[in-house]
Amino acid sequence: MAPTVPTIDADTCVGCGSCTSVCPAGVIEVSAKKAVVVHPERCISCGHCAAACPAGAISLFDTTPQRLVKLGETAADDFRHLVETRRTVRSFLPDTLSEEYLTELLDVTQHCPSAVNFRPVEYTVLGRAFMHQLGLKIGEAFPSDHPYSFMIKGQGKDGADPLFHGAPHFVLVHAANKGYDPAEDTILAATTLELYAVAKGLGTFWGGLVTMCLEMFPNLKAECGIPDDHKVHCCIAVGKTDTAKEKYRRVVPRVPYPVKYVN
Ligand SMILES: Cc1cc2nc3c(=O)[nH]c(=O)nc-3n(C[C@H](O)[C@H](O)[C@H](O)COP(=O)(O)O)c2cc1C
Ligand code: SF4
Ligand code: SF4
Repeated sequence: MAPTVPTIDADTCVGCGSCTSVCPAGVIEVSAKKAVVVHPERCISCGHCAAACPAGAISLFDTTPQRLVKLGETAADDFRHLVETRRTVRSFLPDTLSEEYLTELLDVTQHCPSAVNFRPVEYTVLGRAFMHQLGLKIGEAFPSDHPYSFMIKGQGKDGADPLFHGAPHFVLVHAANKGYDPAEDTILAATTLELYAVAKGLGTFWGGLVTMCLEMFPNLKAECGIPDDHKVHCCIAVGKTDTAKEKYRRVVPRVPYPVKYVN
């Protein structure tokens, strides 16, 4: 099943605008109290619009999302619920979390699997003031002819924050370029950290744009205090979700990954 652009049932739509406010790509507009897909070419098929729609008016992948199910009794049901209901959050409250709280959050990842238990993962947690300055420097240095320049060159202009989305904390997950499978170990740690944060009721997103920029600009990586011989493999933003702006009510079916059994 190929990724698709959402379809909106105009009769069901109540014109609330929830879909437009959560869409990361400006695909949908509300006109005459009805949501309309105006930029289908920009759609990344994330399904945030369908997950946020209170009326169930939006379909994706030829399916209509269901209401969230109640928590099950078993750990497996709880885990599936956690995985199904985790969504990228891009609206945060400014409240900061204490270092003690963040340390406990990161501590869970000591239980992650690691290739031959090499355990190369290290964290650097950026705060708002540092992020603000870093964002301006990235926006300044970013090449104008890059496909993402339309987003990143606007960083800091009129309050735009495409790199950090106002998150109060930004965790750089890095490891030395040596030893066994540092990329896999960092991704496992970041995934576990994210799910634990979501289980605690926090909002998160993967900051792939910043990961890319720190690779492009080694001087800015150094300013973050990351050693030369380390690579930042992934970044996770963490904070309290601004639920007045972003709330997901539905589980949206995705394209399942193909499975082959070889016996
Ligand atoms: C490796 C990776 C990098 C990402 N980088 C960004 C990013 O820089 N900015 C952003 O807003 N979202 C980023 N995302 C979020 C994706 O757009 C999002 O996961 C996808 O649209 C599916 O939505 P979901 O996370 O709610 O399931 C990233 C996701 C991943 C896995
Ligand atoms: S979220 Fe649903 S009801 Fe609200 S404007 Fe969008 S399609 Fe219409
Ligand atoms: S699927 Fe994602 S990118 Fe496409 S219209 Fe919906 S929210 Fe926007």
